[in-house]
Amino acid sequence: ANMPVELKGNILVTGANRGLGLELVKQLAETTGQEAHIYACSREPEGSRTEFFDIQKTLVIMMCISMHLPVDVADEESISAAVQAVQDQIGDAGLNILINNAGIRKPALSGALSATKKNDMMEVYETNVVGPFTIAKMFLPLLKKAAQRDSSAKGSGMYLFFHVMLNVGYHHWEKTQWSEYILMVSSLNMLTRCQAEDFKTHNIVVTAIHPGWVQTEMGGENAPLTTVDSVLGMLSVISSLSNKDRGMLLDWQGNTIPW
Ligand SMILES: NC(=O)c1ccc[n+]([C@@H]2O[C@H](COP(=O)([O-])OP(=O)(O)OC[C@H]3O[C@@H](n4cnc5c(N)ncnc54)[C@H](OP(=O)(O)O)[C@@H]3O)[C@@H](O)[C@H]2O)c1
Repeated sequence: ANMPVELKGNILVTGANRGLGLELVKQLAETTGQEAHIYACSREPEGSRTEFFDIQKTLVIMMCISMHLPVDVADEESISAAVQAVQDQIGDAGLNILINNAGIRKPALSGALSATKKNDMMEVYETNVVGPFTIAKMFLPLLKKAAQRDSSAKGSGMYLFFHVMLNVGYHHWEKTQWSEYILMVSSLNMLTRCQAEDFKTHNIVVTAIHPGWVQTEMGGENAPLTTVDSVLGMLSVISSLSNKDRGMLLDWQGNTIPW
């Protein structure tokens, strides 16, 4: 069956303290109301880079955000603790949507590939590729529960797991010279494809979404898109996803990005 995704149930977002992650959490809370429970994960929920704090208070009061958990996607212990905390809260309900949003960029000052440091290569790969890999693996039991429950209730189970990523072609390197970042993104594209196959048997859909070029710390101030518009677009794309979108790379307007 090809039932579209409903934005409800238990939804988890990584990198939720600022940028696109924060806007995702805000709009999810606003649009889903009591229909969803949102698990916001941030590296340092109460750190100085968290623009989340006042919003967190407001949203918790509105009872839209269920938890704000400390998760460093490069740290298995913090992920493990979050899995446990979410599990304790949701019991058998399972996790319906997981959004891997946390990501970094470590460009060499000159932009040249030859000037890129090995450590920066490793850190970007660890956060943006191995991060979603680890999160998926560790939350899989919870994701499977939601998929199983759904399928017994409605005949079509689907939980979603997707990466917010950058469409990357060679033209991108020519334009930006963000070598360490685009090397990582080609891996993330492939991870999306492999996970989509791997999780098929569990009725889990894995899709990658490109948010557009967005005004955040990463996107910079020259970016044409606001976080509000990018996230509005992405949530609309997410709510129209179905089995046919497994392993696909889509942009924030729902266009398919060719391999
Ligand atoms: N903006 C764009 O134009 C654009 C375009 C294409 C793709 N993307 C992708 O969209 C996603 C969000 O980007 P953004 O523009 O919102 O960037 P951003 O404003 O720089 O925010 C990045 C977020 O990721 C978090 N993060 C980084 N490393 C982490 C870790 N190890 N564990 C947990 N959280 C971590 C940051 O937390 P801290 O505050 O703790 O650092 C922050 O919340 C990224 O995956 C990025 O690659 C963005």
